[in-house]
Amino acid sequence: MIPIKSERDLKVMRKACSVAATVLDRLCKVAREGVSTLEIDMAAKKIMSELSCRSACYHYRGPDSRYPGYVCISVNDQVIHGIGTADRILKSGDIVSMDVSVVYQGFVGDNTRTVFIGEVAPETRKLVEATDIALHKGIAAARAGNRVGDISAAIQAYVESCGYGIVEEFTGHGVGRHMHEEPQIPNYGKAGTGPLLRAGMTLAIEPMITMGSPEIFVGEDGWTVYTSDGKPSCHIEHTVLVTDAEPEILTIPMQD
Ligand code: MF3
Ligand code: CO
Repeated sequence: MIPIKSERDLKVMRKACSVAATVLDRLCKVAREGVSTLEIDMAAKKIMSELSCRSACYHYRGPDSRYPGYVCISVNDQVIHGIGTADRILKSGDIVSMDVSVVYQGFVGDNTRTVFIGEVAPETRKLVEATDIALHKGIAAARAGNRVGDISAAIQAYVESCGYGIVEEFTGHGVGRHMHEEPQIPNYGKAGTGPLLRAGMTLAIEPMITMGSPEIFVGEDGWTVYTSDGKPSCHIEHTVLVTDAEPEILTIPMQD
């Protein structure tokens, strides 16, 4: 069953998502050359408490351990679920994806951005721009009456037209009272297939795109996902509301 959010749910859900986006926005300013990924994680913890929300990732249960960080911080060949550490110092040329999922008054907002540190190689910048475009193609397909496969196919078509790889082992997902709800939203698939989209569904759409091979492995920490070929990858995510008209991106930062 895919949850349909009531107007009352949506009131809180909208707020949860704008809080998640605000945390992410502030973290993007913390991520600079010379800063460790642990410092980013500690900043996330502090910002979340200032904004009266908590991390949906902290102590999230995995196959054999609980996630130890507050946000996922993945650098270069790290695809997703990177854990902040004191010895990983950001340097010029890095790309850093920050995945922020927060719980606010019982609802989850989920979003990810990938930022540039210093001077980033043009081909790496292109990867990030393409991932962002792919995400927005997916969002545009998130319309009532369409199916999940329409989102997947839109992302896949764009990514493949650029010659990049699509990570298949992880997907987007419904999001609301829980971080992961139905449906799963793969970043590849066939248009016209899968569950029907209806107004009131809230979806986290999140392409994970690789410059080279889409093959991945999980590192020794049991969480961090890496590209097998060591080439860069990119992850960008929004939480989106399906409506009877245009899809609405919910993870927009609060104005300050
Ligand atoms: N926020 C991620 C997602 O988009 C999941 C984080 S996994 C965790 O699904 F272990 F860090 F919680
Ligand atoms: Co997500």
